[in-house]
Amino acid sequence: MSSTNPVAVVTGASSGIGAVYADRFAARGYDLVLVARRIERLHKLAETLSAKHGIGVRPIEADLTDEAGLIRVEELLRSDERVAVLVNNAGNGKLSSTAAMSDMDTAATIALNVVAPTRLARAVLPGFLKRDTGAIINIASVMAFQALPITTLYGATKSYLLSFSRGLLGELAATGVRVQAVLPAGTATEFYDHGGIPLSAFDPAAVMTTEDLVDAALAGFDQGEEVTLPSVHDSGLWTAYDEARAALFGATQVGVPAPRYIQA
Ligand SMILES: NC(=O)c1ccc[n+]([C@@H]2O[C@H](COP(=O)([O-])OP(=O)(O)OC[C@H]3O[C@@H](n4cnc5c(N)ncnc54)[C@H](OP(=O)(O)O)[C@@H]3O)[C@@H](O)[C@H]2O)c1
Repeated sequence: MSSTNPVAVVTGASSGIGAVYADRFAARGYDLVLVARRIERLHKLAETLSAKHGIGVRPIEADLTDEAGLIRVEELLRSDERVAVLVNNAGNGKLSSTAAMSDMDTAATIALNVVAPTRLARAVLPGFLKRDTGAIINIASVMAFQALPITTLYGATKSYLLSFSRGLLGELAATGVRVQAVLPAGTATEFYDHGGIPLSAFDPAAVMTTEDLVDAALAGFDQGEEVTLPSVHDSGLWTAYDEARAALFGATQVGVPAPRYIQA
């Protein structure tokens, strides 16, 4: 890619939400770096998007649970000064109780949902800070604040991503670098088939299309939102939730046990 277009790096671009992010950033004039394991899908998407939008696309085959794959993407993020956006979208989650989940699935979910976005953010941040511009979009989930018996690990990883995003927001407040955490609810993708429960098992009325999800998330991004809940109509609910969180934290800063814990 020898253009001067800014570059958007989208992980998990071979299907679902990531593929739509790729299309939308291409439509905004970004060149793309698309990351996933299914390279043939990335090549096909690259062909479609470069023909449709006249932009450059570089597909990278990488398993982000694997050290070599992660390093390949980290190197790109560190070295390409045109990188302006990182969408940490790749994620997985076997829907299972903690005891029933295999060691391999447990490790893969933590590696993909926690370690990979953290390391990729760390790789891109020095360049963003040097240029005083750039954006990290972390695709978390509404399961960040709701645990179900089959989503314990998945929800915990998404809580991490929300907390990580919020921590970064504080660190970067005085800079030109932006962070947005996106919290989708049910969205029609392959996620559920990979997770072990087909999408058809869910109430269709509660499931959003990938296009609606990404367009709403990008509208939130354009409005400067830090945390975006595309399906929540009453934005006051998040404000109340966050104010309660801040009040709870404030109430912890007293240095003495609460009377109910003082034994006679
Ligand atoms: N769908 C929902 O209801 C929903 C709700 C809330 C949040 N989310 C989040 O949205 C994000 C995107 O998921 P989706 O719903 O669009 O599902 P999806 O269609 O299954 O997409 C997942 C993407 O992640 C990639 N991926 C999976 N394992 C990978 C690995 N080891 N290394 C590199 N890439 C890997 C997949 O590509 P390859 O298989 O080709 O590697 C695919 O491109 C995830 O973080 C998910 O947690 C989804």
